[in-house]
Amino acid sequence: MNNVTPTPTQSPGGIPDFVYGTAWKEDRTPELTELALCMGFRAIDTANQRRHYFEAGVGQGLAAAYRASVVTREDLFLQTKFTYRQGQDRRLPYDPSAALARQVEQSMSSSLDHLGTDHVDSYVLHGPLSNYNWTDADSEVWEAMQTERDGGHTRLIGVSNASLQHLQQMSAAHTEFPAFVQNRCYARLGWDRAVRQFCREHKIIYQGFSLLTANQEVLHHPLIAGLAANTNATPAQVVFSFARSIGILPLTGTSDADHMKQDLASRALVLPGKAVPAIESLAG
Ligand SMILES: NC(=O)c1ccc[n+]([C@@H]2O[C@H](COP(=O)([O-])OP(=O)(O)OC[C@H]3O[C@@H](n4cnc5c(N)ncnc54)[C@H](OP(=O)(O)O)[C@@H]3O)[C@@H](O)[C@H]2O)c1
Repeated sequence: MNNVTPTPTQSPGGIPDFVYGTAWKEDRTPELTELALCMGFRAIDTANQRRHYFEAGVGQGLAAAYRASVVTREDLFLQTKFTYRQGQDRRLPYDPSAALARQVEQSMSSSLDHLGTDHVDSYVLHGPLSNYNWTDADSEVWEAMQTERDGGHTRLIGVSNASLQHLQQMSAAHTEFPAFVQNRCYARLGWDRAVRQFCREHKIIYQGFSLLTANQEVLHHPLIAGLAANTNATPAQVVFSFARSIGILPLTGTSDADHMKQDLASRALVLPGKAVPAIESLAG
């Protein structure tokens, strides 16, 4: 399993089956973005939030891959995010005194510039303004994101770091549901069971991040170790395969070429039927 040659990650309909995340890579962002594309990733996640992402570096990595004929823009699924002032440091992609709708417009324009494209495939609200409620500010931003979509700057729109309450309040306030919810996925919360269920009911694609880093206890659990040994896979591969089995579109942010290969190869790993519900209820 570990050495299966990866195939590209773009699926029919333009929705990827694995997303390469570019957070926290700083000066290595161009090199690692290009490497991920060379290894077979076709979906890239970033954000116009210099504090945690180097979006212009992602653009440099893309440009290098285009020059080397590894991929073309048409092969790719590019996702970026709008981040509120409170989630940023001083390196802002918009005028903080402008209205929120204008900040969305400016942030998008800067993202397109960084990524060297005229549109992204997915534009995500990095997180609602309040940890508890969907606010009027979120509504203003969500409507501005729809305007960006209608203007051709993104194909799809989504939200991140959203609780079930956020999503319920959002759906009461708007006619349009997000195409994606991108959340940190804790095994102790049943792998975000409540939000995943909401997503399933409303045909929203659930993107899960920190599948490995947030669930170290699961990675070392005998159930996972046993499955890994029986399938000649690594515990990380078992977790990614499990995630896909319960409808999660996984992200990985690995900086290691072998791990990139292994993460992609996990798409070919089929877990025994009973293993999936057992892992789902392992910790919550
Ligand atoms: N929306 C948000 O607020 C938000 C927040 C956090 C992250 N994200 C997105 O999600 C992406 C991924 O973040 P993440 O938190 O899931 O991951 P991450 O922080 O990038 O870390 C992944 C970890 O798993 C390890 N790993 C990956 N594949 C492995 C394998 N096959 N075997 C062993 N170890 C492996 C990596 O180590 P090696 O590097 O050594 O492989 C790394 O320590 C980010 O880059 C970002 O795009 C979004």
